[in-house]
Amino acid sequence: MADKAKRGISRGLTNYGDPAFSLYLRRSFAKSMGYSSEMLDRPVVGIADSKSGFNNCHRHFPELIEALKRGVLGAGGLPLEFPTVSLGEVFLSPTSMMFRNLMSIDVEEMIRAQPMDAVVLLGGCDKTVPAQLMGAASADLPAVQLVAGPMMPTSFQGERLGACTDCRRFWALHRAGKVSSAEIDTIEGNLATTAGTCAVMGTASTMASIAEALGMALPGTAAIPAVHADRLRAAEATGARAVELAKNPLRPSQIITAKSVENALRVLLAIGGSTNAIIHLTAIAGRAAVHVDLRRLNELSDSTPVLVDLKPTGQYYMSDLYAAGGLGAVLRELKPLLHLDCLTVAGITLGERLEREPPWVDRAVVKPLSEPLSKMGGLVALFGSLAPNGAILKRSAADPQLFEREGRAVVFTSLDDLAARVDDPALDVTADDFLVLQNAGPKSGYAMPEAGYLPIPAKLARAGVKDMVRISDARMSGTAYGTIVLHVSPEAAAGGPLALVKNGDRIRISVQRRQLELLVSAEELARRKSAWRPPVGMPARGYAQLYMQHVLQAEHGCDFDFLRKTD
Ligand code: FES
Repeated sequence: MADKAKRGISRGLTNYGDPAFSLYLRRSFAKSMGYSSEMLDRPVVGIADSKSGFNNCHRHFPELIEALKRGVLGAGGLPLEFPTVSLGEVFLSPTSMMFRNLMSIDVEEMIRAQPMDAVVLLGGCDKTVPAQLMGAASADLPAVQLVAGPMMPTSFQGERLGACTDCRRFWALHRAGKVSSAEIDTIEGNLATTAGTCAVMGTASTMASIAEALGMALPGTAAIPAVHADRLRAAEATGARAVELAKNPLRPSQIITAKSVENALRVLLAIGGSTNAIIHLTAIAGRAAVHVDLRRLNELSDSTPVLVDLKPTGQYYMSDLYAAGGLGAVLRELKPLLHLDCLTVAGITLGERLEREPPWVDRAVVKPLSEPLSKMGGLVALFGSLAPNGAILKRSAADPQLFEREGRAVVFTSLDDLAARVDDPALDVTADDFLVLQNAGPKSGYAMPEAGYLPIPAKLARAGVKDMVRISDARMSGTAYGTIVLHVSPEAAAGGPLALVKNGDRIRISVQRRQLELLVSAEELARRKSAWRPPVGMPARGYAQLYMQHVLQAEHGCDFDFLRKTD
């Protein structure tokens, strides 16, 4: 009984003061679900299911769970799924980012509280994979990530469309008066047409790639389209592998290490991945006591070329990356830059994995290391008097003509102020100005929404202006593009220098020197600081209060201070 009590359905007994009674009662209630004694003696694989009626990206999870269970049962385990918080990106207010940490707590605690020997994390939409990996890293039970897989692009009037880069492109055309209301209604029904996550290298696809690069997902699974039969086979294989992990534990703490996090950063840079992924990877690493340093990011960025030609920076979709060889093709190119001794959930090292895979690659989509799309990585961190603790620019999605310049600040003090004034014909703005948005960071009351993609003021958009320097403490959708400086830290709502910028101030950006400077004297800034007041008070109760009290700045992954691992 003592040995049995340590595994399967016998783990972590409910405390009635009599362990034998607790086990008897649990097995009795489990049998009410029709399980035999033989099944209840098997290793248990939990399936953390983030399906929800508010999450279009996960609508195929019932089919994936069926395949996962097939894999678990075939390998001698007992699969038991359990629901967790789900975060459907476009269904949450003020933003899904506010609830990522809540989901991570749910995942961590339900893994820990329920009797399972290993867990499969089934997620996909932007914040779900980071939340699951954060929770699993903290629980440190053997875990495998299975992602939803990307949507398929559609063919529409002779054009390929896919969420969500094309969503933004058409909306910008609509704002500029080039796409009518009737046309935008038709396009609305054709942007996202299958199950799965956004079809481009947005945050979901980036996090799927990072999960595989970290070693937390089975090799070759990140890019399989949601509706492809290979994804069901990947689910079956994931279930089977989880049973092996239950029998011979390999824990997240053995997989998420300083070296594997650096591999994941290399991959993030090489795929031209989402800026959000920097925050999420920092948070995941923080749960394993691994620190992501933005200055190290710059070093890696300088030595990691962009290899993948996917939207929003390139031309292809995730399903094309899968057909081109998947993430394995990217990892093979990056091999000289990677730590090959990192363990993966497959039970082999990254190096062993790459030795075993066939060398197929479609060079239209994945470029060779010797002839990259760009010699340097897609992301860069900027520092300076406007961002003492850093800011992020996705240079691969930006206009290099705007990289070295000085401009006049046109300031919006909040998202509401932006919405009210950006299209005002009387707005004093030119194409050479820098648009500055304050109070959209983690503690702003808006919970750092994806609002950094400030719209080009309507009068400039109609005049043909496509890009401007835009600066904020907000985030940006991974599917967006432009010369957009994000995650400025400390944020305005915490009293950072961003809060002190006024209309007409001069700002200098130098991507080459990694600088972002507010050209205002220290005396004047001190004067403004003494008059500064926080824009929002403490929420009266509940999760909003917990969030506001404990959320950290972007360079710490916006995790809660009490959730990070400190040793
Ligand atoms: Fe779910 Fe884009 S809305 S990944």
